[in-house]
Amino acid sequence: MIELLLCAIQESQQPTWHNDIYPLMLSHCQECHDGHGAGPFELLTYESVSNRASFIVELLDAKLMPPWLPSQKGLPLQGERCMSEQQIELFKSWVSNGKLKGEGPEIIVCNEEPNTYKLSGQTNPQTPWIIPAESGIRWHEGVLDKRTFVLPIGNSGTVKANKVVYQTTAPQAVQMVGFVFDGSGQGVEVDNWDAEPGYEMMGDIGWVPSGVHGKIGPGSGGIHIPKGYYIEIPTESHLIAETHFRPTGKEEQLSSSVRIWETSESDARKLLPILTMIRRIVLEPEEQHAVEGESIQLEHDVDVVGITPRAGAECESMRLSATMPEGKEVILLDIQKWDPHYGETVFLESPVRLPMGSVITSRWVYNNSASNPRNPFNPSKNVDLARRTGIAHFILHSAAAESNDEEAILAWNLKLLRQRQRPTNNSNE
Ligand code: HEC
Repeated sequence: MIELLLCAIQESQQPTWHNDIYPLMLSHCQECHDGHGAGPFELLTYESVSNRASFIVELLDAKLMPPWLPSQKGLPLQGERCMSEQQIELFKSWVSNGKLKGEGPEIIVCNEEPNTYKLSGQTNPQTPWIIPAESGIRWHEGVLDKRTFVLPIGNSGTVKANKVVYQTTAPQAVQMVGFVFDGSGQGVEVDNWDAEPGYEMMGDIGWVPSGVHGKIGPGSGGIHIPKGYYIEIPTESHLIAETHFRPTGKEEQLSSSVRIWETSESDARKLLPILTMIRRIVLEPEEQHAVEGESIQLEHDVDVVGITPRAGAECESMRLSATMPEGKEVILLDIQKWDPHYGETVFLESPVRLPMGSVITSRWVYNNSASNPRNPFNPSKNVDLARRTGIAHFILHSAAAESNDEEAILAWNLKLLRQRQRPTNNSNE
């Protein structure tokens, strides 16, 4: 009798699909694995998950899924996607206990966005871009898995955007998109050079780096600016969308659309970009531990709200930190295993105030050897690249502590960008 009772208790404690695993899939995998998103298959049914269970365990252990680059060493971030050790253990114990199904209703996921957006735009759906089945063309000695598209927004005045939702017809092939809302007309001018949709160059507009208004990774589908802040979309804008692909083995037709929401908060604060970067990188073949970085000193008080990282595939790890005037150091963002395909904008759980005089330090570690699995060349080649807005950079999406300082902060950032433009012999710009 006692034995029976124990047995019953144990059974009720064993994880089941309905009680434990399905909710885990909904909270951590559904975003991309609902059958329509970035992931290669759906992971919301008992069959699809249990058939891949041991493979999933491997990916969870290796921290490859759900994709999330920042380590725990930096400040807490909004929407952290990584799974806790307990959640990983729960999944493993479900597998080792025989993948019990249990009983319960399937939860219906309701993802409808209310149509309250303020602005929208799209590429011409009549002329989609064809993403090739395989990568192969090399441009600037790299793999040409990117293209920049220009979406007309046509807003008659500036807009204080707090949400940008971006959709494409090829979610599995589009890995990452960096945004600039361009009111200067430069992007559309370049696009008009030929009849093809988009252009081969990066999505920087002059001194304005691609990603200045956010970068989205697979599945996230947009940028949600934290409450209390906004990005300013200039009048008569085009959205410049630097789009990185991951060929899926078959040709894909790509069209894109964007919807933009405006904040209703009257006291929301504007996000300004502060860039720290390396402008040029020179690496010998097989060079393994090249450390690059810079330090800049703040001339005004700012609140750092979000961070966008950039670096090439030869980069292994990166860190952004700040030392306050009284000596305290904070790690703002730390990425141990960099992958440019997942380099999306992250927002801090709570913004951090950096007073005037704080020193912001960036650091990238490069591995240009064949031992770096992401190195596009084996054997490795000489790397010599430069870019006006940084071959590697961090954009600190920051608000001025005093709104009177906004212009001065923008001018200071531009002055730094210009100072880094030292003469080089490099033509790759
Ligand atoms: C933000 C989007 C995103 C989320 C969230 C996500 N995945 Fe993925 N997943 C992808 C993409 C994109 C791929 C294909 C490319 C790749 O492997 O990077 C993928 C591939 C996979 C694969 C196949 C890997 C291979 O090598 O073929 C498995 C299995 C998988 N995901 C499981 C999961 C599980 C389990 C979760 C939740 C715990 C999850 N994923 C969450 C985007 C996501």
